[in-house]
Amino acid sequence: MTKNNQSKEITAEQFIDQYFKKIGIGGSVKPEQFWRLLTKKFGKLADEFGDCVEARENGQKVDPYVLKNQTVEFANAIAAQFDVAKLRSTALWFLREQFQLNDKKVLEVGCDNGILLCMIATLFPDTKFTGIDPCEPAIKIARERAKYLELTNIEFQVATLDTFIEESNQTVFDLILSVTVFHELLADGLFDSSKTIMSYSNSTFSIEDADNEFIPKCVEIYDLKVLTLLLSVDGKFISVDRWGTQYDLLKWIRLNEKVGLCCSIASSNMIRFKGSSGQPEILPLTVFYKDSKAPLLACDVLSFKAYPGFVDVTAYHLIEDMMVAEMIYGALAKEEIYFHECVYNDGSGTERLTMGVANGLGYVYTTATTGFRRLVLIPSAVLYEKAHEMDEARGHAVNVASVKHHWGDPNLLSRLNIPLN
Ligand SMILES: C[S@@+](CC[C@H](N)C(=O)[O-])C[C@H]1O[C@@H](n2cnc3c(N)ncnc32)[C@H](O)[C@@H]1O
Repeated sequence: MTKNNQSKEITAEQFIDQYFKKIGIGGSVKPEQFWRLLTKKFGKLADEFGDCVEARENGQKVDPYVLKNQTVEFANAIAAQFDVAKLRSTALWFLREQFQLNDKKVLEVGCDNGILLCMIATLFPDTKFTGIDPCEPAIKIARERAKYLELTNIEFQVATLDTFIEESNQTVFDLILSVTVFHELLADGLFDSSKTIMSYSNSTFSIEDADNEFIPKCVEIYDLKVLTLLLSVDGKFISVDRWGTQYDLLKWIRLNEKVGLCCSIASSNMIRFKGSSGQPEILPLTVFYKDSKAPLLACDVLSFKAYPGFVDVTAYHLIEDMMVAEMIYGALAKEEIYFHECVYNDGSGTERLTMGVANGLGYVYTTATTGFRRLVLIPSAVLYEKAHEMDEARGHAVNVASVKHHWGDPNLLSRLNIPLN
């Protein structure tokens, strides 16, 4: 997908791994081992940081950012344990979206010590990047990183959104990025910060209940208003954040709607990675557009059907009318990820199932020699779950049919977070 220094084609994963190696950031280890090694290497600083993390876990308002950015080595050690897996998955999503950024301006809000923004800036030499964060030592390290990487298309400023807009001289950005910042900025108590893993099991979720419970007009959303002012007319705001429940995700979407942004459900996704304690984590990645007159895409409309669940596997749109199913299936711009064919031993016929993604929307299409056709449209984020169902279904079918199957392009599977068996 891209070229390294020796001009060899390398994959997005390889590029990201090489980048982390180059800036001296490794991977995470078991928590006990991490704290032991940290204390051994950094002594008192490690103990102070440990106390700070513990205080935060106990709900105290303490700021770990100044402490963790005392030196590049310390900041890198903390990032390896707490941030790299998240930033790696976010970067993978970003690179695979293939944004056209030449001559554009990109802003990262809450860029910390610049790990993500410097990585992206190395790939887009003709794009101007700005990173802001109120933490002075973090920005100092971000600048050192950019210098070490010989980047000339990036600048970092010590600023909050609030102070940045005052000095920005009406500059606007085509793309604004923000990773795990807004859950800390928005009004206290609005979001349930104790839940950081997206719950799949909340089947009682409904938009009406959530809207009734949540009254956005009471909430001060100054930072989001400022962000919208910094976005160009057709700009995009991409956020990854700790919305641990579907309610919180919906509140986040509603808050953005309040300031005039609209969410593209079809472009939005889930970032999956292994958290610092070894547990799998899922963070919603939301994509918002400023242009309220942007045409609604067919896949947006159909994905909207799945809006209440968003990540709920049961949220789907079923087309059972055979003619309509076949017609819509024929019209989809399909990228196949899975196919299987079952020829039944009792001579009753053949059944085929194909699954894939079309314009950001997932589909499962089933046909049978009897003329049966069924099309199921689902959010692409849940294809991952469907892939497991397919494995199970095939396992049952082998007892009564001769079964053939194949998986699609490994790059596409990896983009959709579907592990190759
Ligand atoms: C949880 S950290 C996330 C850092 C980085 N984006 C990442 O994902 O690794 C939150 C960051 O937001 C920054 N921050 C806090 N208040 C801010 C504000 N008002 N405007 C911009 N950034 C802010 C903090 O200094 C910190 O670096």
